[in-house]
Amino acid sequence: MKLSFPSCCFYILIIFPLIRPLKFIDANGVKYEECKRTIECGNISLGYPFYDDQYRPAYCGHPGFKVSCSDENNMPEISLKTSSPEKYYLLHVSLDSHTISVAREDYWDGVCPPNLSDTSLNYSLFSYTTANENVTLFYECSNEYPASRNQFSCTNTNNGMGYFMTEVLESYLGHIPPGLCRSNVSVPVYRSVAANITDMSSLHAALQSGFELEWIANDDLCDDCRGSSGECGYNTNLSRFTCYCADDVHNFRCDGYPFYDDDTRPDYCGYPGYKLNCSNEYGEISVTQSSEKYLLLRMDPSSHTIDVAPKDFWNTPCPDNLFNTTLNYSLYKYTDEVANFTFYYDCPTSIPVIPSLGSASPFTCPNINDNHPGVYFKIGDDYISQIPCQSKIIAPLFNQSVDILRDKDSVKRAFEKGFNLEWIADNDNCDECREKRGGECGYDFSQRNFTCYPNDSMNPFLFIWLY
Ligand SMILES: *[C@@H]1O[C@H](CO)[C@@H](O)[C@H](O)[C@H]1NC(C)=O
Ligand SMILES: *[C@@H]1O[C@H](CO)[C@@H](O)[C@H](O)[C@H]1NC(C)=O
Ligand SMILES: *[C@@H]1O[C@H](CO)[C@@H](O)[C@H](O)[C@H]1NC(C)=O
Ligand SMILES: *[C@@H]1O[C@H](CO)[C@@H](O)[C@H](O)[C@H]1NC(C)=O
Ligand SMILES: *[C@@H]1O[C@H](CO)[C@@H](O)[C@H](O)[C@H]1NC(C)=O
Ligand SMILES: *[C@@H]1O[C@H](CO)[C@@H](O)[C@H](O)[C@H]1NC(C)=O
Ligand SMILES: *[C@@H]1O[C@H](CO)[C@@H](O)[C@H](O)[C@H]1NC(C)=O
Ligand SMILES: *[C@@H]1O[C@H](CO)[C@@H](O)[C@H](O)[C@H]1NC(C)=O
Ligand SMILES: *[C@@H]1O[C@H](CO)[C@@H](O)[C@H](O)[C@H]1NC(C)=O
Ligand SMILES: *[C@@H]1O[C@H](CO)[C@@H](O)[C@H](O)[C@H]1NC(C)=O
Ligand SMILES: *[C@@H]1O[C@H](CO)[C@@H](O)[C@H](O)[C@H]1NC(C)=O
Ligand SMILES: *[C@@H]1O[C@H](CO)[C@@H](O)[C@H](O)[C@H]1NC(C)=O
Repeated sequence: MKLSFPSCCFYILIIFPLIRPLKFIDANGVKYEECKRTIECGNISLGYPFYDDQYRPAYCGHPGFKVSCSDENNMPEISLKTSSPEKYYLLHVSLDSHTISVAREDYWDGVCPPNLSDTSLNYSLFSYTTANENVTLFYECSNEYPASRNQFSCTNTNNGMGYFMTEVLESYLGHIPPGLCRSNVSVPVYRSVAANITDMSSLHAALQSGFELEWIANDDLCDDCRGSSGECGYNTNLSRFTCYCADDVHNFRCDGYPFYDDDTRPDYCGYPGYKLNCSNEYGEISVTQSSEKYLLLRMDPSSHTIDVAPKDFWNTPCPDNLFNTTLNYSLYKYTDEVANFTFYYDCPTSIPVIPSLGSASPFTCPNINDNHPGVYFKIGDDYISQIPCQSKIIAPLFNQSVDILRDKDSVKRAFEKGFNLEWIADNDNCDECREKRGGECGYDFSQRNFTCYPNDSMNPFLFIWLY
């Protein structure tokens, strides 16, 4: 059997009670193995974020992505909105672009389904890509519109006359006047295929080729987790993303040193000062000398860097508490992708034109001062005395953010992208531990020093016995 060295936590436990680590593997290693499995249905193979009742339990997927394999057509079926009964066939999945092709099940065999409904999505889980165009199907129409190849009839409605319309057809047949038909349904199809719809058989083929959606399911966290040899999943008890590692379950990644938390990474897997609070979707950490919290957006062990965003600015450029960022330089340093920006709040209604000021248009922050326009910004942290605003803050952001800063929404987005930091936690020793010894990094509290697991004082017999 291949000898692999999973996370450090495992080896620590081996030294003492010999029964516990085996139970440990049993509980969490099983989830890792289970989540490595794919759903096999017809010609399609599905991993995270999909789950089902047979191959992948809910903790291997993301809520809203439950599929089942249809007996009739041997294709995976999915709902795009939990609350609606419409089912879609899943035709194709692209893991890299997080996109799927789906086709409406009720239009698979024909254009006269028993119940008419528009295509509707849960926009917090899916979004349309630009590859699509709508075909509109009109039902129960009066016969005042010239008969053409876009006409069809349905026997299951009172008045069976119907029409279909695409952008290309409309350009030479003219549009169907409002009121001509009792109802209409929009069905997306690939734009490239829509251009070829001329008759019932090409319409049928287009509906069966489906349309494209992008899915939204903690994809960045999942990419990070996969990048560290983990398997993505969901903690259904705590309602948040989780990463399963070969030996353990971690919140974000399997090689999470120097971070530790109260839940899945004990302090001896991390380094003092790098404690994460994992009670939300993103982990929260302290990076400054004061109490403000930062959200951990991304972590890259090879460059020892993290992307963080100030929690107080998440979703708003108007935090209740204005503060300067005072990095704790014994834990972190700024990378060269970061620059200081100065933001001025609570300014007078008219402000002199100052060329060195950024081009952001002012906006109000009702929680700071209802009557005064809010923010002006500039790059750098030197003081401009002509700016007579009540408050200013100096905030680090990615230096490319200067290109997007325009209005309130872009200031919000710049803060949500945050900035990056390099951690300082015996990085050279950790690199050596991973590269030269195939080990995992941690901290030895009795020696008050970095340590590499498995460490040399361990009895090699235990390994042989275990593997
Ligand atoms: C699977 O692929 C084969 C060959 O590409 C095709 O003939 C068959 O119809 C496909 N089956 C399904 C269920 O899509
Ligand atoms: C949309 O998906 C989210 C996340 O799974 C869920 O909380 C919400 O209830 C869904 N909304 C509808 C209308 O299905
Ligand atoms: C059509 O709608 C009715 C009433 O809402 C529902 O009972 C029935 O199951 C639906 N049929 C299909 C095929 O969805
Ligand atoms: C198709 O129609 C739906 C519902 O009317 C709409 O939400 C969607 O944006 C349309 N798609 C395109 C590509 O126009
Ligand atoms: C399509 O149906 C909607 C209501 O569902 C209606 O507002 C609209 O006018 C209809 N379009 C046409 C061209 O009949
Ligand atoms: C559309 O029709 C053209 C000409 O008939 C053909 O070359 C092309 O492959 C078709 N496109 C699709 C997406 O079917
Ligand atoms: C949820 O909690 C139960 C009971 O503590 C536990 O058995 C189960 O494994 C947990 N589920 C997940 C996905 O962690
Ligand atoms: C910086 O972090 C170290 C390690 O956690 C801590 O001991 C120190 O108090 C912090 N410094 C400040 C000024 O907060
Ligand atoms: C962790 O974060 C949550 C919400 O962000 C907060 O309510 C909780 O008090 C924090 N826990 C600790 C130990 O800081
Ligand atoms: C931030 O620092 C600047 C310059 O050091 C100071 O003028 C400003 O008042 C500080 N802002 C806050 C909110 O403490
Ligand atoms: C931003 O300015 C502070 C002093 O106000 C400085 O300590 C810090 O290094 C600067 N940050 C960057 C990224 O240059
Ligand atoms: C701490 O650990 C490193 C690498 O494991 C070692 O080189 C160093 O001598 C140790 N320092 C002390 C004080 O034990």
